[in-house]
Amino acid sequence: MSVTRILAPVRFGVLGCADIARRRMLPALLADPEVRLVAVASRDAAKARTFTDRFGGEPVGGYDALLERTDVDAVYLPLPAVLHAEWIRRALLAGKHVLAEKPLTTDHASAAALVELARERGLLLFENAMFLRHSQHEAVRGMVAGGAIGELRQFASAFTIPPKPPTDIRYQADVGGGALLDVGFYPIRAAAHFLGPDLAVTGAVLRVDPMHRVVVSGSILLHTPDGVAAHLTFGMEHSYRASYELTGSTGRLSLDRVFTPPADFQPVVHVERQDHREELVLPADDQFANVVRLFAGALTAGTGLDAHAADSLCQAQLMDAVLARADLVKAE
Ligand SMILES: NC(=O)c1ccc[n+]([C@@H]2O[C@H](COP(=O)([O-])OP(=O)(O)OC[C@H]3O[C@@H](n4cnc5c(N)ncnc54)[C@H](OP(=O)(O)O)[C@@H]3O)[C@@H](O)[C@H]2O)c1
Repeated sequence: MSVTRILAPVRFGVLGCADIARRRMLPALLADPEVRLVAVASRDAAKARTFTDRFGGEPVGGYDALLERTDVDAVYLPLPAVLHAEWIRRALLAGKHVLAEKPLTTDHASAAALVELARERGLLLFENAMFLRHSQHEAVRGMVAGGAIGELRQFASAFTIPPKPPTDIRYQADVGGGALLDVGFYPIRAAAHFLGPDLAVTGAVLRVDPMHRVVVSGSILLHTPDGVAAHLTFGMEHSYRASYELTGSTGRLSLDRVFTPPADFQPVVHVERQDHREELVLPADDQFANVVRLFAGALTAGTGLDAHAADSLCQAQLMDAVLARADLVKAE
């Protein structure tokens, strides 16, 4: 489906002075010649000014004031997960294209409603599942399709991080909403990327922090209709790990740092087969620049990103299914 075309440069506003905006996305927006940063909004105008002093654009007090501006074509929305649905809706109703941080929303029904609203209005709504914009995953897919490990039998992935400070959004049930939405998102999306969207959730164990009443870690088992299983691990009560492994009938492939590689990192694919072991170094890639190029390019071309919207809805459905099937266990 096509969207209302924008003449370059795409004029961006940012809703919220988020850590991910400061570290990754604002530098990527500034570096793209097809994009111009017009304004940054915060609930606190002084905080917005600290961002605009560094990155440019005008500071704005309050998100609604930014959405009212006529010189903004698109907004980047890095708010906490539970707030995504409401602010995506308001941005779309204000006629803005939206690059929303992952997860798109907290459930499939609200994600589907917003995708439909964007479609009705000819606006682009894109979920920033940034890691998938790194070329390493296509390279791995190509190796698997080329028979490097025979027939695919199993997928495993882990994304675990150390605990955050107690005030972090991820410990606030009605704001960040916990680790399944924030961290579990990645291995679930990676499983769908390699095994396809037709995944059933067999079961899950989610550890719930009794004080904050949010999920802090978990394990999930999924499978394809023909029995290829995905075992996923996530959490924020661990040491850092961001990996996946594909096991086939004749060998296996594994990679580390798959979800948050910096732009200068050269991924290494470990390949093991009977009596054979090798390491392949892949080119470095900049997933942050790539996502901005993809989004801005779709706007200046007037094309939608329909396949990506379908992926986001599949993801939301899987997250719903994980919650529905999970055993919740108190994390003492
Ligand atoms: N794609 C990726 O690779 C990636 C990586 C990390 C995070 N993320 C996603 O990005 C989003 C933000 O994560 P983050 O770690 O950057 O969060 P963060 O630093 O806590 O920023 C969230 C921002 O939301 C605004 N906000 C509005 N209402 C809030 C409330 N009630 N409590 C706290 N903040 C509120 C704040 O901006 P103001 O105070 O300026 O209004 C705050 O700076 C999450 O959805 C996360 O999953 C994506």
